[in-house]
Amino acid sequence: MAFVIAVDGPAASGKGTVASRLAEFYGYPMLDTGLLYRAVGVRLLDSSGDLDDAVAAEAAARGLALAELEKAEVRTRAAGEAASRVAVHAGVRAALFDLQRDFALREPGSVIDGRDIGTVIAPDAQAKLFVTASPEVRADRRWKQLLGQGESVTFDEILADIRKRDERDSGRASAPLTQAADAVLLDTSEMTISQAFDAARRIVETARARW
Ligand code: DC
Repeated sequence: MAFVIAVDGPAASGKGTVASRLAEFYGYPMLDTGLLYRAVGVRLLDSSGDLDDAVAAEAAARGLALAELEKAEVRTRAAGEAASRVAVHAGVRAALFDLQRDFALREPGSVIDGRDIGTVIAPDAQAKLFVTASPEVRADRRWKQLLGQGESVTFDEILADIRKRDERDSGRASAPLTQAADAVLLDTSEMTISQAFDAARRIVETARARW
């Protein structure tokens, strides 16, 4: 059976960094599922622009090509916001399910990060982490990242984005962001990247010992 490491958490919690370091350490492929929703959002922004159109959003998700995940456009602030909005549509989530589930079944294992990996995509994952940090710390990280990409935004705008996104991602009816009952909480607010990785690796090692 494949060893799946599910890494969930809110925006800019550090889950992506933790997930990619775990993937490198264990030699597993990694899937950043946020990119799927971002690419669907970008598709809609490039066509009708109507993110509330559930039918068009589902069609965009069904027609998604993996090459679209590589575009720089999917990493922008606008794509993150669009992703959170298209992610509320159950049809979009259903359209992206098989791809994610197939990834979770790959031998010898994988690291998958997102919002609903431990709850919906891979409820049977052997290791589940719920990575979080305070909204202020997350806003600061995301702000610096976006400035580095050349976007001109203020810290307060990003903090407002983060709070709105948390509310939407946690409050939606379909696969909301929530910690799985058997996920281990990792609060990275006061941690450096290497401390967060060490803590994550200990959680995974405990799960491997039980496996
Ligand atoms: O992780 P991220 O910031 O790239 O995700 C962007 C948005 O995509 C997030 O606000 C909600 C949505 N998303 C989701 O609903 N389910 C996932 N598994 C991953 C992302």
